[in-house]
Amino acid sequence: MLLNGEKLLKIFQLVCAFCLFFASISFSNDIDEGNERFHKNCHNCHGKAGMGVASYPKVAGLEPEYIIDRLNRYRSGEKIGSNSGLMISMARKLTDREIDILAAYLSNIN
Ligand code: HEC
Repeated sequence: MLLNGEKLLKIFQLVCAFCLFFASISFSNDIDEGNERFHKNCHNCHGKAGMGVASYPKVAGLEPEYIIDRLNRYRSGEKIGSNSGLMISMARKLTDREIDILAAYLSNIN
């Protein structure tokens, strides 16, 4: 049996819906895991949900690329601001996966 254009389109739509569904599940897991990781120790300085406390910067609502870049730079020991020392010792222990989920979580809150 030959597939006509309409059937192909239906199949295509089903495949897309399926992929989007699983993409959204894995994305929300990242956010949940990031939330958990953040509240292990990051919140001690950056406040609950990353809203910032006194001289500790707000980290909620930043772009994911920016967060990943900053965490990688701190992890490599780079000084960015005047208080980088604190952040460098924190970032040193982070894995790539932890940086990804933290970025997913933080970029998703306002
Ligand atoms: C001991 C306190 C402390 C802890 C704990 C801490 N941070 Fe920080 N964080 C800082 C300080 C201070 C800065 C600003 C550093 C500077 O001057 O460069 C900073 C900066 C940042 C920035 C860059 C903000 C910007 O606007 O550029 C991000 C992102 C960040 N922290 C995420 C995290 C994450 C994720 C964790 C948990 C793994 C964490 N921090 C744990 C103190 C802390």
